[in-house]
Amino acid sequence: MDTEFDVEELIKKSHESKQYSHSPYSKFRVGAALLDAQGRIWTGCNVENCAYPAGICAERTAYCKAVSEGARQFKAIAISSDMELDFIYPCGICRQFMAEFGTDITVIVTRSAKSSNETYRIFKLKDLLPNAFVPDHLDKRRIPN
Ligand code: THU
Repeated sequence: MDTEFDVEELIKKSHESKQYSHSPYSKFRVGAALLDAQGRIWTGCNVENCAYPAGICAERTAYCKAVSEGARQFKAIAISSDMELDFIYPCGICRQFMAEFGTDITVIVTRSAKSSNETYRIFKLKDLLPNAFVPDHLDKRRIPN
């Protein structure tokens, strides 16, 4: 897939973001780096909580940081974990959360396999979440008489 941004840089930043992961329960660190339309990179990590469902994934942390500072358009997000062989894919909640801001975004999933040269894969969010429920659908609602 053709990309007009620095994929390696985004991946590097997603790996760096893992250092701040608060994951004492799962011991599973995740980092994300989100590139917005202005070229800014917003990073995030997973932040867990002793009340387990209150925790948040790295992807949503990055989006919340960006959106809360005024960013609304995004180009790409890279996601990293410490898994060597398996790629880290965004969970279902994160896919829906990201779809709110556009399904054309590029999603880069990574692994830290030293034995392979395939360390990342590139998708479009719309392929990871086909037939997404998006904000436009709310404008198409019809209330029966
Ligand atoms: N997690 C993420 O941050 N992103 C993902 O894409 C998958 C899972 C986090 C949530 C939780 O803190 C830990 O990984 C284990 O599920």
